[in-house]
Amino acid sequence: VEHRALGNTGLCLSLLGLGTGEWGAPDADEAGLARLLDRALDHGIDFVDTAPSYGCAEERLGRLLKGRGSRIQVCTKAGYGIPGVPDWTFECVRQGVDRALARLGRDSLDIVLLHSCPADVLEHNGVVDALEQARGQGKLRVVAYSGENEALDRALQDARIRCVMTSLNPCDQAVLDNPRLAAGLATGLGWLVKRPLANGVWRHTQPPERPDLAEYWRRWQALGNPGGADPLATCLGFAGQCAGPHAIVVGIRTEQGLQECLDALERGQAIGDSREGPRARWQAAAPGWPGLI
Ligand SMILES: NC(=O)c1ccc[n+]([C@@H]2O[C@H](COP(=O)([O-])OP(=O)(O)OC[C@H]3O[C@@H](n4cnc5c(N)ncnc54)[C@H](OP(=O)(O)O)[C@@H]3O)[C@@H](O)[C@H]2O)c1
Repeated sequence: VEHRALGNTGLCLSLLGLGTGEWGAPDADEAGLARLLDRALDHGIDFVDTAPSYGCAEERLGRLLKGRGSRIQVCTKAGYGIPGVPDWTFECVRQGVDRALARLGRDSLDIVLLHSCPADVLEHNGVVDALEQARGQGKLRVVAYSGENEALDRALQDARIRCVMTSLNPCDQAVLDNPRLAAGLATGLGWLVKRPLANGVWRHTQPPERPDLAEYWRRWQALGNPGGADPLATCLGFAGQCAGPHAIVVGIRTEQGLQECLDALERGQAIGDSREGPRARWQAAAPGWPGLI
């Protein structure tokens, strides 16, 4: 698969990254995930995104990375979940980085994202300082932020944050309306996309139960099926081409799912309309919908 430089961070990632949001169930098929990882490596995919909040995904990924060398570049997240330490404090982020190093079995992490903290936390709690300190100690390479809307806008104004992760799909395009993103990209900011498939909401005939998926489902209907006849290819083509993110992280958990996404990515690049279709629909509707975390 294609690789893109992550802005001027020094990292170069496969355009398609594996998202482990669904890898954390205690009874997940770990042998199947190992085969998925090997198949992804065969295809040149060398980027995996995880988080401490994805069940036991981070520990599981740590086990799976053993014996697969250091070719896989790992992104994880910090800011919460350290027993006895208040969330979104310097100390919580500091300890979160150390815990991720231990869980993932690495001496250094490639990217660490502050996982969706609000704007006032970014301004006052020393959380960026904690990541910067860890970077200075060689514990991580890229200080990053994941989030949307006002908080993302605040993160885009902090020069220490060298990469952002945002939602981008046909029914979640708010980030494209923020001029600071384009300005950041022009000066070497890295950009990772999450939720590129809009969680596959086109497969549902009724709104799904999860509120965020129900919201995407309603938007998908309101935009008049922006995925057209090939929603998978349209979503991947749109995410990969529109405004030029450096990697798109897809929630994949089987070898078959990986193959479908690889095939669709190729088709998506060939669908000329995949670039203009969803964007034009969004702009015509001017829905003002916020980005979903
Ligand atoms: N930083 C953050 O706050 C944040 C937030 C969200 C996501 N993420 C990251 O981004 C990754 C991707 O986001 P996401 O998983 O929420 O959304 P996504 O990639 O848009 O959607 C993933 C879902 O799409 C469906 N899907 C996968 N392959 C498919 C295929 N070939 N055909 C049709 N449907 C398919 C699957 O649904 P089923 O499982 O129902 O089959 C899967 O759960 C996550 O795994 C995580 O690593 C980060």
